[in-house]
Amino acid sequence: MGFDLVLFGGTGDLAWRKLMPALFQAFRHGTLPAGGRIIGVGRDPLSHDQYRELIRSRFEKVELAKRPSAEEFARFADILEFVRMDLSKPDDYATLAASLRARNADTVVMYVATAPSLFTTVCEQLAAAGLNTPQTRVVLEKPLGNDLASNRAINHTVRRFFEEKQVFRIDHYLGKPAVQNLFALRFGNALFEPLWRREHIANIQITIAEDLGVESRGAFYENTGALRDMVQNHALQLLCAIGMEPPINSHADAIRDEKLKVLRSLKPWTQESLAHDAIRGQYAAGAIAGTKVPGYREEAGVSTTSQTETFVALRTEIANWRWAGVPFYIRTGKRLASRDARIVVNFRPTPHAIFNSNVGMANRLVINLQPKDGLELHLLAQGQANRKAAQSLAPVQLDLDFDKRFGTERVGAYERLLLDVIDGRLNLFVRSDEQEEAWRWVEPVLNFWVNDAQGPRPYAAGTWGPSASSAMIARDGFCWSEES
Ligand code: BG6
Repeated sequence: MGFDLVLFGGTGDLAWRKLMPALFQAFRHGTLPAGGRIIGVGRDPLSHDQYRELIRSRFEKVELAKRPSAEEFARFADILEFVRMDLSKPDDYATLAASLRARNADTVVMYVATAPSLFTTVCEQLAAAGLNTPQTRVVLEKPLGNDLASNRAINHTVRRFFEEKQVFRIDHYLGKPAVQNLFALRFGNALFEPLWRREHIANIQITIAEDLGVESRGAFYENTGALRDMVQNHALQLLCAIGMEPPINSHADAIRDEKLKVLRSLKPWTQESLAHDAIRGQYAAGAIAGTKVPGYREEAGVSTTSQTETFVALRTEIANWRWAGVPFYIRTGKRLASRDARIVVNFRPTPHAIFNSNVGMANRLVINLQPKDGLELHLLAQGQANRKAAQSLAPVQLDLDFDKRFGTERVGAYERLLLDVIDGRLNLFVRSDEQEEAWRWVEPVLNFWVNDAQGPRPYAAGTWGPSASSAMIARDGFCWSEES
């Protein structure tokens, strides 16, 4: 009968910020399969009703459009329950097991939204309580480890109790509508694919910029930094979606095989490339939209001498026939000039110029992830009527706004991914070998930085990061898209 979704970390930040709102949206849209139950798990001694009340009060902090009315929440609350557990205590798993067996749902989802240090314990204990049945799916939230060894250790434990097809490693960027549209653009349309290669593309830029700082997560972020927090997962997944070969079909493993090949083809780091093509920064005090904000070292939970990077810019290449020699630039950071995530594909200039135009990279495809969601195709056109200007061209752009076109049908990242877990679709989840390969590639950078006395370069909050990031890309004769 239906599904049981067990939310370990059911009173935690992720649960009320992202997961409950996403589950509620699915419920509101009528896409959450009927006959389901959501069981929040936490340490506090809460009754079902107290848990429902806690979740209801948290919804007041969620953006208005995603907040339930009293009547909607009352219906949603009917499927919410709570189980008190100390995750280190075997007996508590027995209580959970009893509740699950009593209902015998067709699908049981174990969503492990806890501190990563608990992942292995939870998996071991679930198995000990006989909860690793074929109907069970395990969802693991990042960070899955802190480096390759710890990631492998987690994967190793999980594999002892669950088959790979039961494990759903979340990277919420893969659930973003724009990323799915990137797959649609590349593999559902014939237009760009012939151009999608080194002969026609000069460089590709992946930017995930945030204007927020570390907020209340200073203590967590201190031991994480931007490379682990954003590059090892989100940015590399975007790079895979851009760089992969067309999969043979749309099955999860066909897609993941191709992504894995991209990760394996990333150019290995050398001492020289580590020194020049991996830039790290840390935000100092500055201003965001006219309001003064403190520097990273002044944030709560952060050391006043912190060496943690809040900004990363990298240059790499995918060493294969399609992409050899094409630079891929990745850039991400906190407290940057704006919240802006986009991928820019810069096409090569015409081989021979007959117009008097000097507009740099004239043809570019911009895939906007957020806050806008859509595509821009930049071209040159003849705008001016006067004779003198007749020899020159001006930039124009074709702008596809997916929010406008699909507005009401759009589904948020977590909503999409949670529904996929319940339905057992793995396409948008990360396989263990992909994840390990991504760690293998970022690890030399982490190690290099540990031994590099220079530390992260300061940048003022509200800017685009340290100037070394612009200098890195300028060495190839290019510039970041906002600078052109
Ligand atoms: C998370 C990171 O994975 O992604 C956060 O841990 C970051 O530090 C967030 O803020 C960004 O996600 P989004 O969807 O807001 O771009």
